[in-house]
Amino acid sequence: FPIKEFQDDLINWYLAEKRDLPWRKDQDPYKVWVSEIMLQQTRVDTVIPYFNAFITKFPTINALADADEEEVLKAWEGLGYYSRVRNLQAAVKEVKETYSGKVPDSPLEISKLKGVGPYTKGAILSIAYNIPEPAVDGNVMRVLSRILSIWEDIAKPKTRKIFEEATYELISKEDPSSFNQAVMELGALICTPTSPKCLLCPVREHCTAFDEGVQSELPIKSKK
Ligand code: ADE
Repeated sequence: FPIKEFQDDLINWYLAEKRDLPWRKDQDPYKVWVSEIMLQQTRVDTVIPYFNAFITKFPTINALADADEEEVLKAWEGLGYYSRVRNLQAAVKEVKETYSGKVPDSPLEISKLKGVGPYTKGAILSIAYNIPEPAVDGNVMRVLSRILSIWEDIAKPKTRKIFEEATYELISKEDPSSFNQAVMELGALICTPTSPKCLLCPVREHCTAFDEGVQSELPIKSKK
């Protein structure tokens, strides 16, 4: 598998075609964190205005740490899954107290924060800090299952590890931030769950599923 060509094709496409989303204006780890928490159960179009309003009200780690819980919950109203924002505020308080308000850039420290699971950890480390860590969610598993022809059941909790191992091999060490966001963007715009737009895909020539005509059969996802 020609990894370097794959990375270049994917990243060049991303840099040319990426959507102008508010959390992509800079690499502030706090903003990356807030956006990834919001995006976990909510669609991009819905998240955009909530993200903008939230960052205007609570522009920094310390602002969110010091805010009244009531006001924070109000800013989340409509997004649902309120444990997300309760955990987020508890975690930023911890960052304020323990790390002087700076989100840690170590995998071990960051994964101890409330509500920061393997996906969020990898997203912050890669997108904000340019550290080559996988950030594997359902969209990423769909894209990689097709490119590499991985017929593992993505509904099984153990399967994420397989995709993390694959990402360690594939991820660009020069630009892990763009690489991971490019995979997410490909999953959102091209490599969609149904009717993937393979003829527009920048990495079609590297895609095993397309080559074998099985892109609509992947990923395998059992009902649970
Ligand atoms: N979905 C999850 N993370 C995302 C991101 N950073 N940009 C767009 N969509 C996403």
